[in-house]
Amino acid sequence: MSENWAAFFYLVAAVCFIVALKGLSSPRTARLGNVVGAAGALVSVLVVMAVHRPDRLVWILIAIAVGGAIGTLAAQRVAMTAMPQMVALFNGVGGAAGAMVALLELAEGTSDAVPHLAVTAFTVLIGSITFSGSLLTFAKLQEIVTGRPMVFPGMRWVAAVSVAGSLATGVWVTLTGSVLGAVLLAALTLGLGLLLVLPVGGADVPIVISLLNAFSGITVTASGYVLSNTLLIVAGTLVGASGTLLTKMMADAMGRSLVNILFGAFAGGSTLGSTTESDRPVRSGGPPDIAIQLGYARKVVVVPGYGLAVAQAQHTMRDLTDALESRGVEVTYAIHPVAGRMPGHMNVLLAEADVPYDKLKEMTEVNPEFRTTDVALVVGANDVVNPAAHTEPGSPIYGMPILEVAHAASVVFLKRSMRPGFAGIENELLYDQKTTLLFGDAKESLSKLLAAVKNL
Ligand code: TAP
Repeated sequence: MSENWAAFFYLVAAVCFIVALKGLSSPRTARLGNVVGAAGALVSVLVVMAVHRPDRLVWILIAIAVGGAIGTLAAQRVAMTAMPQMVALFNGVGGAAGAMVALLELAEGTSDAVPHLAVTAFTVLIGSITFSGSLLTFAKLQEIVTGRPMVFPGMRWVAAVSVAGSLATGVWVTLTGSVLGAVLLAALTLGLGLLLVLPVGGADVPIVISLLNAFSGITVTASGYVLSNTLLIVAGTLVGASGTLLTKMMADAMGRSLVNILFGAFAGGSTLGSTTESDRPVRSGGPPDIAIQLGYARKVVVVPGYGLAVAQAQHTMRDLTDALESRGVEVTYAIHPVAGRMPGHMNVLLAEADVPYDKLKEMTEVNPEFRTTDVALVVGANDVVNPAAHTEPGSPIYGMPILEVAHAASVVFLKRSMRPGFAGIENELLYDQKTTLLFGDAKESLSKLLAAVKNL
């Protein structure tokens, strides 16, 4: 294939990636966006094969088969609730691949121009940070290690020395093209990645996944420069830019600054929560009582959260809201931007149950409505309605905008126990006079409520 045709197909692939990103911005078009993005990736791989006529084709095909099989199996088997872990792993392997490409290029001595060596050193640096940081994030989310912030005495100094050492080694590699220096740089920055993620805990972990996703994009861009491949530069820039925007949007949605997320624990462990269950009294109710509350309400706002995903209760919830609407109750859904465990988690769940989009209301739109709401039905959500975000300056979620369900005339929580949510902190609203708890798996509780509402 000629250079010109290759450039043309790279352009086609780049357009596919942009169209894919646009498609992914709405649940209606996300599936199509995904297919278009995958098609762009396929075109890219085929063009690279055609242009470079690889001499180790068999090895490359074996690698593609093994990687493809692992990816397909993982994507089919992963539970919806474990998606963030999988994204963390994908980010990590992207970073590792970029760093290894840079190391190999250096070993082959492709170029000794200082700008080229500087980008090569940068690729090793950012790729290694992405790899180790992502693995630790995976371990935190998978609860292989504690999800709480981890700091040790003198950690600030260790971090400062590692940063200084990495920069000095990076300069050494840039000036000499030393392979040994690059390996040392990889080792130092693998440590830096761990130091970056260790102090992050609780509700801030998803933001770090998004940040590492942006890092993996930057790694790909830099490796595109090292390999003189335009498509890698375009694709990496798209990932880097969208990851950075997502990180900013998530941090804003949680009322946090990135500096506070990354370095907050150094400043005194303010992100440490309590995971203890309290034995204070709460008011629990049975399905018949709560069905009366719901069935005779004028307006009900449903607040879905992570527990809805765990219970896979979206269809039963839809049936319940249909039953309420057929009784003349006005029902809407309040969507918090970080409800669940990944951006758009609740939108995906509700789309699965064919809940009409116009029934979904964003936080800023729905918050003023709680004052005129009879029942806020909180299904498997906790942190996103926890008033500690407004009232407790020491709390890990302090400053995060929440769904202000406490303003509703009454609040019903469907959850299994008094255990806290992701951030590991108590929710005072559970003990409030106006709150009733229905304990049990959300799907079972919703089925019981549905039956009771039908019997009214
Ligand atoms: P959480 O605060 O984690 O609360 C989930 C609630 O669901 C818990 O109270 C839990 O209580 C209940 N639950 C779990 N399984 C259940 C089941 N089968 N049936 C009924 N209830 C069940 O969830 P949230 O309010 O959605 O907040 C999300 C949290 O995750 C935030 O802190 C957010 O920052 C963080 N996070 C968000 C993301 C993104 S991007 N969305 C990614 C990672 C983390 P029981 O155990 O007592 O049932």
